[in-house]
Parts: sequence; C-alpha cells; structure tokens
Amino acid sequence: MAKKKSRPQKRRRRSIIAFEMIRLDRTAPEPLHEQLYRQIRDELKSGRFGDGSSRLPSSRTLATDRGISRSTVRLALSKLHAEGYLRSKPGSGTFVANLLPESFLTADQPKNYQPIQRPVRISDRVKAIPDARVGNQFDLGATGAGPGVSLVASIPAVDEFPIAVWERLRVQVLAKKGVTLLRYSSNRGDVDLRKAIAAYLCDFRGARCHPDQIVIVAGMQQAMLISAMAVLNPGEAAWIEDPCYQQTRRVLSLAGVKIVPKTLDNQGIVIARSPKEPLPRMIYVTPSHQFPLGITMSFQRRTDLLNFARAHNAFIFEDDYDAEFRFVGLPLPSLQGIDNASRVIYAGTVSKILCPSLRLGYIVAPEQLVDSFVKIRSAMDQHSSPIEQATLARFITEGFFLSHIKRMRKLYAERRDFFIKQFNELLADHFTLQVPEAGLNIVAWLKREEDFALIKRITADIGVRPTPLSFFCIQAKLKPAVIFGFAAWTTTQIRESLVKLASALRNHDKDLNYGRQSR
Ligand SMILES: Cc1ncc(COP(=O)(O)O)c(C=O)c1O
Repeated sequence: MAKKKSRPQKRRRRSIIAFEMIRLDRTAPEPLHEQLYRQIRDELKSGRFGDGSSRLPSSRTLATDRGISRSTVRLALSKLHAEGYLRSKPGSGTFVANLLPESFLTADQPKNYQPIQRPVRISDRVKAIPDARVGNQFDLGATGAGPGVSLVASIPAVDEFPIAVWERLRVQVLAKKGVTLLRYSSNRGDVDLRKAIAAYLCDFRGARCHPDQIVIVAGMQQAMLISAMAVLNPGEAAWIEDPCYQQTRRVLSLAGVKIVPKTLDNQGIVIARSPKEPLPRMIYVTPSHQFPLGITMSFQRRTDLLNFARAHNAFIFEDDYDAEFRFVGLPLPSLQGIDNASRVIYAGTVSKILCPSLRLGYIVAPEQLVDSFVKIRSAMDQHSSPIEQATLARFITEGFFLSHIKRMRKLYAERRDFFIKQFNELLADHFTLQVPEAGLNIVAWLKREEDFALIKRITADIGVRPTPLSFFCIQAKLKPAVIFGFAAWTTTQIRESLVKLASALRNHDKDLNYGRQSR
C-alpha cells in the first residue's frame, strides 16, 4: 500500500511545474511573452526546480491556464530554450536544464576580500598630460558643458542633427551589408566613405587627394595622435600655436613630444625662430580659422609655412575642424591643396558639422605616410565602427551631408548676428567683441583688466560659461578675454543668457558704487 501511495506523489514532484506565481498584466507596456519569459526564468533561477527532472507543462496547458494564446507561450519558451534554461527530450516534453546558464556566467565574489590602500605608481606619460580640471568637469567631455549651462565655446547645435534620416540610412546599410558590418574591418576605413570624403574635400576644401590617401579615424584627437606617433620620436619637437586648442597639447604630451609654443600675429602662426628653439618635426596649425583667436591664415603665411616645412623636412598638421562655417569672405583653399611637396597632413572631423559623439574624422595623408598611419591604427584600436562609417558614407553620397552643412551655416549665421547685436547692446560697457570670419565662437576682450576675476566668478555662478582665453594659452601673455560659443543656443536662449550676464554685472557695479559713496 505504502508503495502505491508514494508513486503518484513522486510523479507529481518530478513532472509538471505549476507556475502558480505567474501574473500577467495586459495593461503593462512590456509584451505578454516577455512577461511570461521573465517570470518563468526568475522562477527557474530561484533554484526550486534545479534537479533537471522538472518538466514544464505543455504550451497548450500553459496557454489555457493563463488565458493567453499558444503563440505567446511559444515565444516565451523558445527564448528560454535559446538561452539554455530549458532542454527538450524528444517524446517526453520540455525539462528544466540541469545547469542554468547563470552557473556558467556568474563568478563568485572572492570571500575575505580586504582592499589594501597603497599609493599607485602612475607613469610619467600620464603626469605629462596638462590637466586644468576642476571637480568632475572632465567627465562631461572636452567642453565641460553640463545641462543648464549656456554660451560655452565650441559646441554645435546637436539638436538639429537629422536623427531620423541617420537611423533610416543605418537600417538600410545594415540590411544591405548585414554581418559584414559586424566583423573587424579595414584599418584604413570603409572604402565608400573614403571615396565620399575624398570627393567632398576636392570639391569643397580645395584639396588634392585620392581615396587611398584617406584614413578614417575616431576624430581630430586621434588624427593628431596617429600623426605625431608616425612622424615624431619621443622628445622631438612639435610647434603648436599659442594660444591653442587645449586637446592638442594633451595629445602631443601623450605622444611624448616636446611642445614648442609659437606666437601668432594677424596672419597666423609666426615662423621666425630663435636660434635656441629646436627645429620642428611637425607644425600644428588651424589655418582656416585659428582656434581660439579666429585668425584666418593669410595666403602669404601659408606659402611661407609650406616653404619652411619643405626646407626643414617637417610635416604640417592642418586641423580643419570647422572650416565649413564661414560667414564672411571667400574660403581660402586648404594648405593641403597648395602643397606640392607632400608636407601636409590634413585632418577633418564631423564633430562640428554633425555631432561630436560619432567620434569620426579623417586624415588626408601624404602618400608616403599612409602605411604608417594604418599600421598605428591597427595597433591602437583597429578601426571606427563599420556601421557608423557605412551610414556616414550613405549620408554623404545621398546629399544629406551637404544639405545639413548649408542649413546649419544659415542657422549659425542668424545666431551669430543676433549674438553680436544683443551683446553689443547689453555688454559693450564691459567687453569689446572681436568677430571672426568663421567658426562657432567669438572672442570678447575685457575693457578693464581688473574685471577679470569678477567676470570669472559671475559667469561660473550664473551658468553662462564662456571660457577664459588664458585657458588656451601656454606662454602667451594676452590681455584678458573670454571665448563665447553661440551656436548651440536659440536666439531666445542667447538673449536670456546675455541679459542674465548684463544684469549680474550691473548689480555688481551698483554695489561697488554704493560702497564707494557710503565710504
Ligand atoms: C581646434 C579644434 N580641433 C578639433 C576639434 C574637434 O576634435 P574632435 O574631432 O576630436 O572632436 C575641436 C573641438 O572643439 C577644436 O576646437
């Protein structure tokens, strides 16, 4: 009798799992099959059915029990199967896997873990990178612009980026090229993208190049790093403009290069050198629109620089980061286009034209350097995302790139004019604007040097955050100025920010006068 009694009990324990805990919510945004999958998975993970002999009810039973369709149940079960929670026994049904996938994926936390506090030895390479960080600013990217902060230099209007078009093209390239885009790919970059960029640069930037000279990189910084590593040994000299884009100093320091700051005049970088100054292997310049002062390098200085580079066997690194946004006068051809001795390494980026988060840029390398650049990229990080590269190639060849540039140039021109007018109306007592021909920034020189500390404090307090010019200076001793960005803010936001700054300065002036009178 006892034997007979225990049999059905054993059968029940070994067989059908009841899944009484399942609660499906038809009003929830999560699809029913996902809810079912998740709840069964959690139940299996709880360990109550871990002996591998527990059988699942049939999909029909589960569907009837829960009042849902069999296809919903099948979807949930097939996902559990695919992930290794279930196994099928032909003729017997579906069982819980002997070992759930978690057992292969989850490492135990080591017991008796006691962290030891010791000073860490950091390499000289890291220490050599200039770091003017305040608080956690660095984590907000190169520009340090958090939410609610306005008029920060160098920020493009990313809210105008045509996300829907980009997404559509991305889906199309994925459908067309499929798994090819998921593999490791060319260290030079997507061939269609290289063709599209070469054509764009020849048509619009006066460049002279073919697609095999193009190396796709992860933005301007990587272009600088690869170039410096290819043409300079550690300790050799590179000239850079002073003041200069702060990331250039950091990148060249990382490459172990000796940085020689060079002054600027109204034609661009000054080439004359003192006998003590080491000859450069590379000269970094921003000829289209000097960062941050906004000078356009004159034609004469361009030819002088090329002659100098040729005479001294140096390379010129031409950072053409935002030449597309010119508002006055005709653009001069890139240095690359007038270089007949293969001395110019030209580099561009989509950070300003499209958005910085894509991390895509391009080098036009002198032919004899292409192989070294590609070799370094292969040792560094192989390549940029093939999916984004293929999407960008389509974006360019289908005309969206050019159309976006034209639209943004017009929008920026309107914002720039508005900024200048409002600024001069509201803040002319404190600043003199120096309006450049191109770019997304404007330099405002302080009328009274003694205002500098006050303006720094006020702009930090009110969240209108131009960058002090001194931030970009290495040895240059320039009069105090701040750099405003205008591109990423609507005219209403520009007005609000300038009014806020003007009234903060006015209040301060009033307090000062009151203090003087009451003394
Ligand atoms: C002079 C200069 N070059 C390049 C860049 C952009 O570099 P990346 O392509 O690394 O974003 C900037 C951004 O502000 C810049 O000011």
